[in-house]
Amino acid sequence: MKKQLKKFIGANLKLNPVSNNSQSDLIRLLTGYVSEEVGKVPNREVAVFVPTIFLRETVVKSYIRNVGNILAGAQEVSEHTQGAYTGDSPSPLWLTQLGITDVLVGHSEDRLRYEVLGANPNSINTLYNKKISNALHHGLRVTYCVGETLDQKNSGRTKKTLEEQIEQGLSQVPIFDLDNLIIAYEPRWTIGTGKTPSEEDIRAAHQYSLDVLVRTCKIGDDKYKTRVIYGGGVSPENTSGLLKIPCVDGLLVGGASLDAHKFSQIVKAA
Ligand code: PGA
Repeated sequence: MKKQLKKFIGANLKLNPVSNNSQSDLIRLLTGYVSEEVGKVPNREVAVFVPTIFLRETVVKSYIRNVGNILAGAQEVSEHTQGAYTGDSPSPLWLTQLGITDVLVGHSEDRLRYEVLGANPNSINTLYNKKISNALHHGLRVTYCVGETLDQKNSGRTKKTLEEQIEQGLSQVPIFDLDNLIIAYEPRWTIGTGKTPSEEDIRAAHQYSLDVLVRTCKIGDDKYKTRVIYGGGVSPENTSGLLKIPCVDGLLVGGASLDAHKFSQIVKAA
């Protein structure tokens, strides 16, 4: 693992119709990012994941990439490249045309969408495998979210869950694409709750995820640059501690990214 990589800080923007969030709220937030200079912090690589409805070329180019020096990400991607798929997530071709460089796959809230329809975890991971391969094939960088539910944690199934999500979700990823892959360990019970696991639990989950990745993709230990980042309950207060944990190569920030000042404190934390 090459440790000189910059820490990746992703803002997973949870804009919400219940809060009446609109395009102008997004622009206001992104303008806040620009004035806080979150894209210019040394040794940090910052990406913002935007809900599909707000993805516009002007938003991506004018407010995120050119002015903000921030990478633009989508919160979903289709497993199909072309063809008519009414109602599907966006094709990677459309995303790259908009100037998007990054996508999220497998976020807990997305998994839940399939779980409530009765899909089993194996078939969800297999679907993610297709989405990830398709996105990587078209030059997008993928942040693949993995993590256990509270029930899985309490019944001692954290490692088993991570193993299945990584083995099944990444089995078709070619070695040469691994530098374009980020694994986000996001325990599902921490998302939006403000809770975090102990530092030792985070370290162990990250190390285990790397071990499974090495086995799944049949790679030598030091021959790839896949980062493993942590997400769930990240705040300005706990950022420094989280970034000091060995194997934590960055953070995925949900709620706190909706406040430009808080997000900037997270990006700038030592
Ligand atoms: P949170 O969410 O930071 O609000 O816990 C994280 C996420 O949804 O990625």
